[in-house]
Amino acid sequence: MYTNVWYVAGFSKDLTNAPLKVTMLGADLVLFRETDGTARCISNVCPHRGSSLAEGILYKDGTLACPFHGFHFNGHGTCTLIPSRRDHDAQVVAPGIRTDAYATVEKYGLIWVCLGDDPDAASPIFDMPEWDNDEFRFTSNEEIWNADYHTSKFTNLDYVHLPVVHGILFQGNENPIQAPEHHITATEHGFQSVMRVTPAPSEGVWSELRDKDAKVESVLKFFIPGFTLRGQVEIGGIGSGEFNIFYEFTTPIDEHRTMMRHYFLRNYRMEADFDAEHTRRNLQNIHQDKALAEAQRPLIAGTGPNPNGIYTHDEDKLMLAYWGLMEGLRNKGWQIDQEQLVDPARAVRIIPSPNRKANPAGWVYAPMPRIAAGKATVPSVRDLNFVDIDHIKPTRAKDYGKSEPVVPRDAKSKATLEWEAAALARIEKAPGFVQPMIIKNAEAAARANGSNFVTVKLLEELQAKQGGGAAPGSA
Ligand code: FES
Ligand SMILES: [Fe+2]
Repeated sequence: MYTNVWYVAGFSKDLTNAPLKVTMLGADLVLFRETDGTARCISNVCPHRGSSLAEGILYKDGTLACPFHGFHFNGHGTCTLIPSRRDHDAQVVAPGIRTDAYATVEKYGLIWVCLGDDPDAASPIFDMPEWDNDEFRFTSNEEIWNADYHTSKFTNLDYVHLPVVHGILFQGNENPIQAPEHHITATEHGFQSVMRVTPAPSEGVWSELRDKDAKVESVLKFFIPGFTLRGQVEIGGIGSGEFNIFYEFTTPIDEHRTMMRHYFLRNYRMEADFDAEHTRRNLQNIHQDKALAEAQRPLIAGTGPNPNGIYTHDEDKLMLAYWGLMEGLRNKGWQIDQEQLVDPARAVRIIPSPNRKANPAGWVYAPMPRIAAGKATVPSVRDLNFVDIDHIKPTRAKDYGKSEPVVPRDAKSKATLEWEAAALARIEKAPGFVQPMIIKNAEAAARANGSNFVTVKLLEELQAKQGGGAAPGSA
């Protein structure tokens, strides 16, 4: 876990006029609003005797009073009043009493908190151009995954899992499981991956919708703030202007629990009635990722790539780009030293705050230990080994689909079928890249044939059929 990162602490709509307890990076914190509505975040553990400030009372002067002896704390962590001695300044009654406070801003309907002592040095919160744009409709979701935050993040920083976990095949590929060529580049505060696919030659109406060699593009961006992943697919085909976009915000609750928040955006089917379906369709994939992450081991992931790990060329490069970024945070001395982290049942966990950096002496609780810059023991991404697969002659056919599982896969997309007739009517101008409906139909057809396994041949048959305008279920 890393300090000096802006994390999403919650949705703005959920912070009303009551304090809200949140756990992030293993530390207990409390969010509250001052009288003018300004959101604040301070440590939740009262420096007097350790009570939970979130159980206390918010006063109209914008201070939060501890539920035990009523000490008031403001949004900067300063103790402003000790009620039993209200005729004295709090700092005279209890010299030095204060709690840690963290830089907090609201943007894009989210409460962002910079958990660390140097918010000016942290990567700034990125722009979200779709926010305040009436052309886009947003839905959202938040849920806790019982998995480490790296593990959770990796379920989407990966192309090969799309066909394997979600059944979204790379249609233009001879082997639709193989990730198409993609280019990963560093951005100022993250990285991006651009994937270009030349779809399979189309027939019927499809061939009129794009040039034979036209490429389709998908962009995946990772931003350090919020550990945010942004994915964009032009769902109606390139040039259609119909976008499906998601933002995935990841906040470590502690070493093995992760808060996953999502925004799902669309600029097609704007009717409110479609929100529930749109969210459900996105969540279907997300819950496949969740099940995967929660079953992975170890429960608390390593803090860098395993030096003895297996890295399969292009397929693992997104993950390694991510580890490279983490290395950057570690090299700044911002990584919490997980080995030295105290058991929260025995000692208070405090994230170092700007106040603490400015005035290191006189704090009741010690800050979390961090790995000093240059003292890391994990290997650098640079030192990992790869097989140079491009220079090895293939010895096998790309025979995806020939071998069927003993027990057919569960009909994981069943819930989607009811939606298909309407969607297929729209998908006449479907892209060659990700064609979820074609795949879902292929799954349905496979099931009808007594199997749940989709073959390339079946996909081609369906594509030809639907390209010609006859969509199963829409007749
Ligand atoms: S424990 Fe908070 S005021 Fe005493
Ligand atoms: Fe996924």
